Amino acid sequence: MSSDSAAGRQEIPDRNLGLDLARVTETAAMAAARWQGRGDAEACDQAAVDGMRAHLGTLELDGVVVIGEGEKDEAPMLHNGEKVGRGVGPRVDVAVDPVDGTRLTAEGGPGALSVIAVSERGTMFAPGSLVYMDKIAVGPEAAGMIDLDAPVERNLKRIAKAKGSDVNDLTVIILKRPRNQHYIDAVRRAGARIRLIQDGDVSAAIATARPDAAIDVMMGIGGSPEGVLAAAALRCMGGEMQARLWPRDDNDRAYAAEHGYDLDRVLTTEDLVGGENVSFAATGVTTGEFLRGVEFRGDGAITHSVMMRSKTGSIRYMDAYHNFARLRRFAAVDFD
Ligand code: FBP
Repeated sequence: MSSDSAAGRQEIPDRNLGLDLARVTETAAMAAARWQGRGDAEACDQAAVDGMRAHLGTLELDGVVVIGEGEKDEAPMLHNGEKVGRGVGPRVDVAVDPVDGTRLTAEGGPGALSVIAVSERGTMFAPGSLVYMDKIAVGPEAAGMIDLDAPVERNLKRIAKAKGSDVNDLTVIILKRPRNQHYIDAVRRAGARIRLIQDGDVSAAIATARPDAAIDVMMGIGGSPEGVLAAAALRCMGGEMQARLWPRDDNDRAYAAEHGYDLDRVLTTEDLVGGENVSFAATGVTTGEFLRGVEFRGDGAITHSVMMRSKTGSIRYMDAYHNFARLRRFAAVDFD
């Protein structure tokens, strides 16, 4: 490196919140994973929320929850506006989904994650009670090529061109819901391949940016909290997301009008999560293609997590071995 190119760079490595955040998602994932296959989605979510809240309280940050999933399903939640952390250190917005894939976990299905993201205070989009968004997401190679307002076929052609492939080489991941049928039909007409998922569109959006995932684009209407969380991950990975709030009914339209939400506006990745220093962490709850789920072994567990940061673009994977016998001596969280 020439001394010229280094000139003016004064900053020494600053604090990366990744490990702190991954410890939060590890705790939530271990609590949720105890409920795998037991058919009780609410108990699963409650366990994860309790685990997450207990651990968040210990962090050296001054956080406010902007995205606390739960309004849609009346699930137990970390409330929007709730203060988290010890009230010292960086002032941040916090987005959480203690389990993305609660139903999946309760049914013993694959690919549920516990996720969290933080960015500087005031930089995260708060959807309030507008719980759905129409979304399109791609990885770094196709960033800059998408337009939520364009026909599906045009988006696919532009993505294929950016990736040096044909439309029929592309795989589009879509949440399997009747409201997404028009996407499924349009992708079929265009000739691309489809991967339908039951749940978990944070992981689906991340897949578009993972070279090993063989997913080129995510399309469809899914949760707004999940949209913000996925945008945080894509900010770190160099991908792109566009989204538009999707009202379910006249009540949502009235809520939007009353609270000043523009239902026509296309939100960019940066609109969803601005800020220069976005951090994201996730831990696998049940085993999927992205992360392995929690493995309980004797008196302990193994967790698999990822930590990312937009400022540096670092992406770290971490396996952790948790010793319950030792943790039980002091931890406020019950691991049994
Ligand atoms: P939760 O497990 O957090 O409830 O979310 C699962 C999920 O599949 C999300 O990934 C997705 O964005 C959302 O639900 C879709 O909502 P719905 O199930 O109401 O269609």
